Amino acid sequence: MKIGIDRMAFATTNDYLDLVDLATARGVDPNKFTIGIGQDRQAVVPASQDIVTLGATAAKKLLTPELAKRVSTVIVATESGIDNSKASAIYIKHLLGLDDFTRTVEMKEACYSATAGIQFAKGLVALNPQETVLVIASDIARYGLNTAGEVTQGAGAVAMLISRDPHILSLEETTVSYTKDVMDFWRPVYASEAMVDGKYSTNVYIDFFKQTFTRYQQITGRDLADFTAIAFHLPFTKMGKKALDALLADRNDEVADRLRQHLTESQAFCRQVGNLYTGSLYLGVMSLLQNGQLKAGDRLGLFSYGSGAEGEFYTGILEPGYQNYMNNVKEDLANRHQVSVAEYEEMFNGQLGMNADDVEFDTRNDPLPFVLKGQKNHQRLYERK
Ligand code: CAA
Repeated sequence: MKIGIDRMAFATTNDYLDLVDLATARGVDPNKFTIGIGQDRQAVVPASQDIVTLGATAAKKLLTPELAKRVSTVIVATESGIDNSKASAIYIKHLLGLDDFTRTVEMKEACYSATAGIQFAKGLVALNPQETVLVIASDIARYGLNTAGEVTQGAGAVAMLISRDPHILSLEETTVSYTKDVMDFWRPVYASEAMVDGKYSTNVYIDFFKQTFTRYQQITGRDLADFTAIAFHLPFTKMGKKALDALLADRNDEVADRLRQHLTESQAFCRQVGNLYTGSLYLGVMSLLQNGQLKAGDRLGLFSYGSGAEGEFYTGILEPGYQNYMNNVKEDLANRHQVSVAEYEEMFNGQLGMNADDVEFDTRNDPLPFVLKGQKNHQRLYERK
């Protein structure tokens, strides 16, 4: 039985910051951001959005009433959860109006947990082929104003349905996971911004990619020529290039050209929104599929990485007509609203974060279908628009 990704949808905020403006404001050469880091724009988050509203918005884009009835489990993967106890999946299940007889859970391991969510969903479907699992990767990447990581911030959610006979990607059996206790990026419970040893984190990422890919080759006997493309977790687009270069070194044949070309296609959307943490790999897959010319039967490699740290390399085979089972991300990104650096800073400081006070947000200008209205008695108040 084939099991895999049946549908995908991406949602981000309506506001973005141009990173040339950010570079100018920070006194940095814009080429460092656009070429050195490889980012052009980043999503900016109004107070009325969080990982619940973004996740629900992404899921709404792919759920028809018929599909909604089939969802048996909702898994939300996030690094930026809004509660230390209650799962964001419960709020999202409610906002989407899903049946009460639904299993809901939130998963965490930095940027990696959506991959665990997909693997666990695959297991559920294998045990009961009637199950359809909604996996949502939703995050707000915050490093802080004037930090080295600021240029790599971003926000958004990717929703995926995992089922039998999938329309997009059938997952193959062999997967390689790799875990080590490493302090490259973490966020203590008292902090709303990540702590990061940036340069170290890029080295750990590359090491984990090499470890998992080499083990995968040993198990399967496959080599790079067996892949049409490899999609990477993209905290910023240059990271994908660094990882692929580490494998290709100075290889310059047809296989290397093909992988480099498809890498560029997979980076296009990340360039426009920034890091999505859990969702970045999957936005990279959507970018590859919407900007490349891949065909049914092509094998994709997926490298998932979460600081702390855990990596996983796994693969899938593209299904015929995969193009028809995703929202048009290019179109959605073209309709966003640009904000100035001053507006971005105000919005950055206006997020609910660690604040315990009652507050009400003005949601009139927020075009997303779900909004965070505010907080009362320590409870977040959500609304369907
Ligand atoms: N023109 C063109 N390129 C320029 C330039 C210019 N004027 N000035 C600098 N550059 C280049 C540099 O040569 C460098 O390129 P290479 O990495 O290819 O050598 C690049 O721009 C970045 O320059 P620096 O190394 O000086 O940048 P920095 O000290 O400001 O930090 C960073 C970069 C470490 C990535 C930082 O942005 C950061 O900490 N980011 C957050 C952490 C992160 O994303 N880590 C990724 C791995 S961890 C992970 O994947 C999980 C996750 O999602 C967080």
